[in-house]
Amino acid sequence: MEMLYHAALVIIVLMGLGTLATTLRQAGPYGRHMTPGQRFTMKARPAWLLFESPQWFSFALTFWLVAPPLAGPSGVMLFLFGLWQAHYVYRGLIYPWRMRDTHRQFPLIAVVMGFLFNLLNGFANAYAVGHADHLMTADWFTDPRFMAGLAIAVAGWLVNFQADTILINLRADGFTSYRIPHGGAFRWVSAANYFGEIVWWCGVGLMLWTLAGAVFVFFTLANLMPRALAHHRWYREHFPDYPKSRRAVIPGLL
Ligand SMILES: NC(=O)c1ccc[n+]([C@@H]2O[C@H](COP(=O)([O-])OP(=O)(O)OC[C@H]3O[C@@H](n4cnc5c(N)ncnc54)[C@H](OP(=O)(O)O)[C@@H]3O)[C@@H](O)[C@H]2O)c1
Repeated sequence: MEMLYHAALVIIVLMGLGTLATTLRQAGPYGRHMTPGQRFTMKARPAWLLFESPQWFSFALTFWLVAPPLAGPSGVMLFLFGLWQAHYVYRGLIYPWRMRDTHRQFPLIAVVMGFLFNLLNGFANAYAVGHADHLMTADWFTDPRFMAGLAIAVAGWLVNFQADTILINLRADGFTSYRIPHGGAFRWVSAANYFGEIVWWCGVGLMLWTLAGAVFVFFTLANLMPRALAHHRWYREHFPDYPKSRRAVIPGLL
């Protein structure tokens, strides 16, 4: 099983490098970057549910059945299990349900890639949580890495949730195109949702302190940074009055 875990990590790193190389040239083809006339698509709402769902069953099956913690799950492991599941209940179930404009389409290829990635990532992180020595005792709850990670993760989650809400509300009146988002972290960056997401996963990575957690932080950066840059360019091209001081994704920096 340990070999499978390492193989999954290698594949995730390769997927991250592949994503980075391709999306730096052309943003992932969904939402505003979808290729006109794109064939083989499905509705965005079930697409999100479908490609995020492996994070529930892959993580849960690995943690409880396939490679459970040898000495039984500790309190720390159960906390991390709950945190992981809670995040994906939001992302895979609640977020698509909150989305407006449910007629939007999503390319099937992105659904398949997302599904495969989430399957591997759920397995790798569940295996890592269940087999990390430092997560076996309650001492980890008071470790500075856990406490700082939790504070960073909560801050990131709040920024992300607020940004999701601002974007959702831009279409509250039935409008189906794009407007300039204002408020929250959009004051500083064009991709406030990705900024919050990146901070959240950096915090979770710190709390986990595992190789699988670090690999996922790398993948998140490789996936979201180029897309944030593409969003930023897109806003500047489409809105002549776009706020000049706004950065792409990291306030004050990038
Ligand atoms: N962990 C990860 O690697 C990862 C990967 C992807 C996404 N996510 C998270 O999932 C969430 C959604 O991601 P996404 O890639 O779909 O984000 P996005 O491209 O910013 O779009 C988010 C939603 O808001 C709408 N929207 C965006 N900008 C708008 C504007 N200016 N005016 C009106 N509506 C606007 C989009 O509609 P359209 O679809 O019509 O553009 C979409 O429904 C984010 O919170 C993100 O952080 C995480």
